[in-house]
Parts: sequence; structure tokens; C-alpha cells
Amino acid sequence: MNRVIAIDGPSGAGKSSVSKRVGTMLGFLHVDSGALYRIMTWQCLLNRIDTANPAAVAAFAQTVNVECVPRNGAIAYFVKGQEPGDAIRTPEINKHASPVATVKEVRDRVTAWLRGMTRFGDLIVEGRDITTAVFPESPARFYLVASAEARAERRRKEEVEKGIANQSAEEVKRSLLARDAIDTTRKHAPLRKADGALEIDSTDLTLDEVVQTVIEALPAEWRRT
Ligand code: DC
Repeated sequence: MNRVIAIDGPSGAGKSSVSKRVGTMLGFLHVDSGALYRIMTWQCLLNRIDTANPAAVAAFAQTVNVECVPRNGAIAYFVKGQEPGDAIRTPEINKHASPVATVKEVRDRVTAWLRGMTRFGDLIVEGRDITTAVFPESPARFYLVASAEARAERRRKEEVEKGIANQSAEEVKRSLLARDAIDTTRKHAPLRKADGALEIDSTDLTLDEVVQTVIEALPAEWRRT
């Protein structure tokens, strides 16, 4: 069985930057599980499925197929041959993704895709339920947090740099806290710190410091640096 590093935490805590960097350093494929929930949401919206109707979302989820392909140190996703790109990073998708991710049938499908990816090699997987539900047996589990202000500022900068939105810090923070509330209180696999996961608060740490903390906490034989 290939190895899995699991990283959970709320939006903007730094999961993507940290897992991409650690993955590159150790040769583990980076897996963005949130992108799969975003793809489900994108497909719902394209097909005019009411995201506030869990039964409709559950039925539709069974029809969505995502092709997962290892590429340049990460797993890339395609739907009917098309790569979603920034179409899944818009404020509209942000808003609809949390309700879509509450639906059990959606979660079951995404969880099966994620578990299937171990066939491609060692993985570093980031998300909300990776340490608690998808790969709870991993000996390398992390819970990354940061203050709401720091998280909102990181997300806002990212959106502006990518040219996908230009919201105020306050707007970004509001949308982020609304998603946190749904993600932490939902019935199926809510976001929480798993027993045995190492919590890292990145508010006042540099990316390098967080990366170093993760690497030092890995089983010794997993470290190559
Ligand atoms: O990390 P992100 O913002 O791209 O995640 C998008 C949505 O998917 C967000 O509402 C949380 C949800 N999600 C989840 O429920 N479980 C995961 N493992 C990853 C993301």
C-alpha cells in the first residue's frame, strides 16, 4: 500500500501551499480533494441542479464522472475531456460548494475516487475529512489552522492575483466563515481535528516553517531531506 500524508483544515489555512511544497520535496503526488467537491458543484450548476435540494444533488452525483490522471507531481482532473481550471474557483462555486459537500452521496463518491488514487503512488491529500474519514489510518495526519483574518487575506490576494474576483477583505471573510459554519456542523464527515492529528497554527508562521514542522513530524523513514 502506498503512503498517504493527510492534511485537513479550514479554507485559507495554507493547506494547498504546504502540501504542494511537501509533496515536491518528498515525491508524494499532491491531491486537492476540495477541487472534486468544486467539480461536483460546477457540474450541478451547469446542469441546473438546485444545490439546495439534497435529493436532486444526490441523484445527479451518481452521473458525474471525473477522470483522475497523475501529472507533474499532482493528480489532474478531467470531466468529459475538459479540465475545469479556474471555472471552479469563482465566488459562485465557493457559495454552492459547501451545501453540495453536505450530501452523503457526493461524499461517498469523492471518497471512493480519493481512495482509488493510492494506486498512482504516495500521496499528500488536503481537504476537510481526509484525517477523519478518508484516510484515518494514516500515521501522518495534520490539522492546519490560522486566524479568520489571516485566512481571508490569503484568499483575497489569491483571487485578485488570479483575476477571478476583486472582493473586499470583509466580503471574503464573510463567505469563508459561512463555509466554515457549514463544513464544521454538517452531519456527514464534518471538519474537525482528528484524534492523533498534529495541529499547526500557521497565522504567524512562514510557509517554510510550516513545511518544516510537517516534515519533522513524519515517520522517519518517509523523510528524504
Ligand atoms: O478546500 P476548498 O475550498 O477547495 O473546498 C471546497 C468545498 O468542499 C468546501 O465547501 C469544503 C468542501 N470539502 C469537503 O467537504 N471535504 C473535503 N475533503 C474537501 C473539501
